[in-house]
Amino acid sequence: MLHDNHGRRIDYLRLSVTDRCDMRCAYCMPEGFKGYEEPSLWLSFDEIERVVAAFAHLGVQRLRLTGGEPLLRLGLAGLARRLSALPGISDLSLSTNATQLARQAEGLREAGIKRLNVSLDSLDRERFAAITRRDALPAVLNGLAAAKAAGFSPIKINMVVMAGVNDQEIDAMADYCFEQRFILRLIETMPVGSTGRSTGFMTIGPIQERLRARLGLIDGLIPGGGPARYLVSPDGRFSVGFITPLSQHFCDSCNRVRLGVDGMLYPCLGDNGRLDLRSLLRYGCSDPELESALIEGVRRKPLRHEFTEEPGKIVRFMSSTGG
Ligand code: 5AD
Ligand code: SF4
Repeated sequence: MLHDNHGRRIDYLRLSVTDRCDMRCAYCMPEGFKGYEEPSLWLSFDEIERVVAAFAHLGVQRLRLTGGEPLLRLGLAGLARRLSALPGISDLSLSTNATQLARQAEGLREAGIKRLNVSLDSLDRERFAAITRRDALPAVLNGLAAAKAAGFSPIKINMVVMAGVNDQEIDAMADYCFEQRFILRLIETMPVGSTGRSTGFMTIGPIQERLRARLGLIDGLIPGGGPARYLVSPDGRFSVGFITPLSQHFCDSCNRVRLGVDGMLYPCLGDNGRLDLRSLLRYGCSDPELESALIEGVRRKPLRHEFTEEPGKIVRFMSSTGG
């Protein structure tokens, strides 16, 4: 079992399979970003499988594939098939921007991915293009339709709420998700990278209370083990989650660590601490050496982020570690 020095059990790994992305969401990546990692420094599928197997051996049961945009990694379904077959891994999920999902949904579902999170900040084509710097809303909506047809369940829509940018669209997004049977999650922008600090942060508590009243929602619980607090409709047909890393942080119950495509283990999204697993793997470490490194890396997880006290601390962009 993996535990950190603050008594939290870690059973969830978020695995970034690429730092590349075909969009440039304003809160995530700079428009002219050129700092992608060299492919020779990406973990290979064999290396990824070895690290995930070691995590699983230490009690990690849940795995999420992230990026950048994970669907840009060639052969992703093949990797998913290998990872979902590992003993101990009981839950494999994926976070995607859905631009490439129409073509890949079925293969990914067949590879053992059950749950899907899709980033969608606007249903207005022009606003979507302004936020993501790509005119890709039709492709994303096609991707979502394909995901539904392929049988992913649940499908969650992640909307990063930005003051004066898309906060006027929350009711429309809630109506859309109700109609489509998607779970909506509203997310506060985190000050990760210069991009995350400059994009209209707002607290979402007041939105929560407004939606509760407008739609007659009650407190609810959605399995998944994440930090979202949920409101649900009394008939259970509609759920909306609120992810409030800043206004009400949830570090006490944090259960996860992240692995970058370059093999860096990040114990906390809000900390610069990391452990270089790639060097260890490429020096030919044994399985017990690898497991000791994971145990040590997880132990170092900081108690909490300091997004409010030290908003300038994280200089890397979200695309390099996954959200
Ligand atoms: N704050 C909050 N969420 C972010 N994401 C990317 N950057 C940020 C940020 N600065 C989210 C995206 C997506 C997931 C990959 O991470 O919206 O849902
Ligand atoms: Fe790409 Fe996701 Fe970052 Fe948007 S938030 S630029 S879709 S990695």
